[in-house]
Amino acid sequence: MAKPPKEPFVPRKPDLSVSFAGITFKNPIIAASGTFGYGVEFEDIVSLEKLGGLVTKGLSREPMVGNPPPRLFETAAGMLNSIGLQNVGAQAFIDEKLPKLAKKKNVVVICNVFGYTPEDYEATIRILNEAEGIAAYELNVSCPNTRHGGITFGTDRALLEQLVASCKGASRRPLIVKLSPNVTSIPAMAKSAENAGADAISLVNTFVAMAIDAEKRKPRISNITAGLSGPAIKPIALRMVYEAAHAVDIPVIGLGGITTAEDVIEFMLAGAAAVEVGTANFWDPCATEKIVDGVRRWCVEHRVAKITDLIGALET
Ligand SMILES: Cc1cc2nc3c(=O)[nH]c(=O)nc-3n(C[C@H](O)[C@H](O)[C@H](O)COP(=O)(O)O)c2cc1C
Repeated sequence: MAKPPKEPFVPRKPDLSVSFAGITFKNPIIAASGTFGYGVEFEDIVSLEKLGGLVTKGLSREPMVGNPPPRLFETAAGMLNSIGLQNVGAQAFIDEKLPKLAKKKNVVVICNVFGYTPEDYEATIRILNEAEGIAAYELNVSCPNTRHGGITFGTDRALLEQLVASCKGASRRPLIVKLSPNVTSIPAMAKSAENAGADAISLVNTFVAMAIDAEKRKPRISNITAGLSGPAIKPIALRMVYEAAHAVDIPVIGLGGITTAEDVIEFMLAGAAAVEVGTANFWDPCATEKIVDGVRRWCVEHRVAKITDLIGALET
């Protein structure tokens, strides 16, 4: 009887590491901005060292109090938030939060940065540049540009390019540009970010949405509109990541509604080099760690020796 063909050897410990923008992540699962505090709040619940990395909540040049409540509302398979980018400010983050993270060896910390003018963004980056222990910056471009009548940076190609170019000039670290999904053409915005010097892009941020209390005839959120996140947005996010990954040569970080290991694999097949997990942290603070374990199991079961082999491997 003929011997069966030799199957390729797949180790029980698949290689989950991914590297891009000069950073090595031990696995592709990163906690998303605004859903994981400054990271330190989770240190007693999650083994931060087990994660690929974490993104801090958005940091600005000055502290911000955010919007008045109500600012969170659960929807069918999702969540609305209008936190209003409440944060301690970049300097307080360096003084009070970062030292605790720095004690943990081996945690990739990405700082999410926002502002209302390009100078705000640049100033925040320059403050953060002075600190050690930060791997990269993620620019939240879903903010209204107060100098241009409130039009968001991330919905106008020219504004986006100017912002990315000026932040790139100010930054001493790799720049990840986090795209807004509230645009007509994701490939066009992805291309703009790449042309202006982004080292990577991440997408998606939340979708502008709203909810109404019919009995009271009032909006559910004090700001009236809010950002929709969670499983409800996953299929749209996946489509956008697929389109973006085909439009640019820089790495794409995918996010939007990821709650399981299978979700991670889907985003990677669509072209994501890594993923972020956001809203899932609200119903299970250990979601990121569980997803890392799940992805490892998935790779063993599916005989995937190197997770990077899955990036963009969708068969059409
Ligand atoms: C409560 C909350 C706060 C957020 N704050 C930020 C933020 O400060 N900066 C940012 O770029 N994205 C922020 N986001 C967007 C998330 O990082 C993520 O892009 C979005 O929620 C989609 O992913 P998800 O469906 O896994 O949550 C926030 C999301 C939520 C739910």
